[in-house]
Amino acid sequence: MAKRCIGLDIGSSAVKLVQLKSQKRGLTLQNFGIEPLPAQSIVDGSIMNHGAIVDAIRNLASRIHLRGKDVAVAVSGNSVIIKRITIPAMEGDALDEQMKWEVQQNIPFRRDDVNVDHTVLVEKTPEGQMEVLLVAAKKDVVEQYLHAVRDAGFVPVVVDTAAFAAQNAVEAGVGMAPGEVVAIINVGARLCTISIVDNGMPVFTRDIGTGGNTYTDAIQSRLAIDSDGAEAYKVGGASPASADMVPQEVHRVLAQVSEQIAGELQRSIDFFLTETVDGNLARIYLTGGSSLVPQLPKAIQDRSRIPVHILDPFVQVEIDARRFDVEYLRANAPVAAVAFGLALRRQGDAA
Ligand SMILES: Nc1ncnc2c1ncn2[C@@H]1O[C@H](COP(=O)(O)OP(=O)(O)OP(=O)(O)O)[C@@H](O)[C@H]1O
Ligand SMILES: [Mg+2]
Repeated sequence: MAKRCIGLDIGSSAVKLVQLKSQKRGLTLQNFGIEPLPAQSIVDGSIMNHGAIVDAIRNLASRIHLRGKDVAVAVSGNSVIIKRITIPAMEGDALDEQMKWEVQQNIPFRRDDVNVDHTVLVEKTPEGQMEVLLVAAKKDVVEQYLHAVRDAGFVPVVVDTAAFAAQNAVEAGVGMAPGEVVAIINVGARLCTISIVDNGMPVFTRDIGTGGNTYTDAIQSRLAIDSDGAEAYKVGGASPASADMVPQEVHRVLAQVSEQIAGELQRSIDFFLTETVDGNLARIYLTGGSSLVPQLPKAIQDRSRIPVHILDPFVQVEIDARRFDVEYLRANAPVAAVAFGLALRRQGDAA
């Protein structure tokens, strides 16, 4: 079987890298690292500062003595559309024709501007319908990411979406019980992506334009300080070790923005639950850097009344404590969830 790829999650605030190896007894960590990016390197999912991304990937790779070339990357945000559609059950040419029409109806971009893929989720329901997952990604944005990876000296072999990568991280990291419906919420710097997975199949995906930057911006304006200072206060306020040194106002902002994010997420959850017949969510997994703001999981759990877990995708992975700073890895495990999901992919996997 082909080797697993290097998982490279190029987010708007930082590049995250995970490399895994499969062994008889399970997965072993081969490499891990996080490299911050200068502000505005990525705006609305598009790469604005190509040089900064290339430098960050190169610096990270050399700092952690990375070996291997084949990389899996993810795209996210406005340039990706994921839709579940229900159509009469059909196959072969009829399905191909129907999908051309569905792409026109469901994808708000010119056909020539997107890469499109579809997966049949359910071939035939008792009502004679079929369920298909339609995924489209803007070609120019995908090309920007591939270009950055190539210029950093790597070979991009798999392009995934961040939402599917996070889902794979949950499945491989902690498993999903058969028949269970779970929500995976990735809270990054720029946005939150919620995906709801039913029996291993993605049934609902939505992006919300609020994330870690919302906290930082609010602290910046409330305390009239610069954004680096606001970021430091945010991370300090989120850490039990330094929370006492941070002004009370910061804690208030962390709580208020967490309430705001929880409220926006709840609207998506409510929408999903009313759309589905036997809607019921067993649990919520939180991933991404902003899941480390302690008020956030609590706000989401209080509002939704659904148990919230912060994902550590590495729980079942063998980690050599002589090679890795285990404390740092554990503290940042949820941040690495998308990179972990990408690191499960192998060359030749369908994108
Ligand atoms: N210990 C921490 N406490 C609080 N916030 C944190 C902590 N560590 C990271 N963050 C925040 O998490 C965000 C970065 O998370 P992540 O790396 O998942 O985002 P990203 O992938 O760069 O962004 P996006 O996916 O939205 O483009 C930043 O806003 C950062 O301030
Ligand atoms: Mg991200």
